[in-house]
Amino acid sequence: MNSQLDTELQTETVTMDVFRSDVLEGLNNSPKKLFSKYFYDKTGDKIFQQIMNMPEYYLTHCELDIFKNKTKELADSILSNDIPFDLIELGAGDAMKSSYLLKHLVDKGVDFTYMPIDISGNILSVLNEKFRDELPSLKIISLEGDYFDMLDKATSISKRRKVVLFLGGNIGNMDLEESNHFCRELSRKLSPGDLLLIGFDLKKNPHTILNAYNDAAGITASFNLNLLVRINRELNADFDVSRFQHYQTYDPVSGACKSYLVSLAKQHVHIGSTVVKFEENELIDMEVSQKFSQEDISKLAKDSSFHILNEIKDSKSWFVDSVWQVV
Ligand code: AVJ
Repeated sequence: MNSQLDTELQTETVTMDVFRSDVLEGLNNSPKKLFSKYFYDKTGDKIFQQIMNMPEYYLTHCELDIFKNKTKELADSILSNDIPFDLIELGAGDAMKSSYLLKHLVDKGVDFTYMPIDISGNILSVLNEKFRDELPSLKIISLEGDYFDMLDKATSISKRRKVVLFLGGNIGNMDLEESNHFCRELSRKLSPGDLLLIGFDLKKNPHTILNAYNDAAGITASFNLNLLVRINRELNADFDVSRFQHYQTYDPVSGACKSYLVSLAKQHVHIGSTVVKFEENELIDMEVSQKFSQEDISKLAKDSSFHILNEIKDSKSWFVDSVWQVV
């Protein structure tokens, strides 16, 4: 066996072990918990693309409005006197939104390398293929893995000024305490003057928010249930997905939009050689999608040593891309 393949297989085993222990530990919690970052296997990537196309899921439409119609304002706020930079995108996905900015920068002849980071190797190959056809002169180094591991890798490769993109309300998958910790860690890993372009879904009419995550067609439900299917396949488990039901909540005071799976019966599930017991109506905490007020955002920036340079909103003012500089 060649050594390249050897290291690939080793990385695969390590990530599988982490997945297994995250799942087993999470299901040992009270309430039981699974991490939403594991939603994104090949099927999960496809379901998320369907979600982004749902009329109810306004987040993508709003941020696309910003990237399509305010491209120049976005570009001007990150160009900073033409000091050369590299552009790192956390959770790039298929780069649907950022591609407008990338194209604008390439057309302007700006010299930069684009470094997309994503937990899904599958979506990164989709992204690479798309840019090979549509923007062949774009320099790309794609990095598969967790945000901070890959950010370390990106900063070891790039010695230039850094601009980090963190779009789509991905920060929402952390609760307020976690996002505070995350932003502090991010500013620590960057240098004074580096920039962060970060997208926040704003608090708005609670019905609008709940509808975006509680679609009548059940696409969001299948997005959640797909993680059980993934666990069955990858960890040799026997979840009966017909015995779990998606339940969505939104608390307009805290801004936490949360999804759960409800066990519809008392049941036993095997994960490899481990048995996990469920009571009827027992919950699995699946995902948080945190919504922010203007004050939440200012406080988050201040607490993590960032200075807010600019705020760019969509035409409805439902979503904001905020430009932060490391102090
Ligand atoms: C990819 C984290 C931005 O929380 O809105 C969509 C994921 N979950 N519908 C979000 C998601 C259910 C999405 N993010």
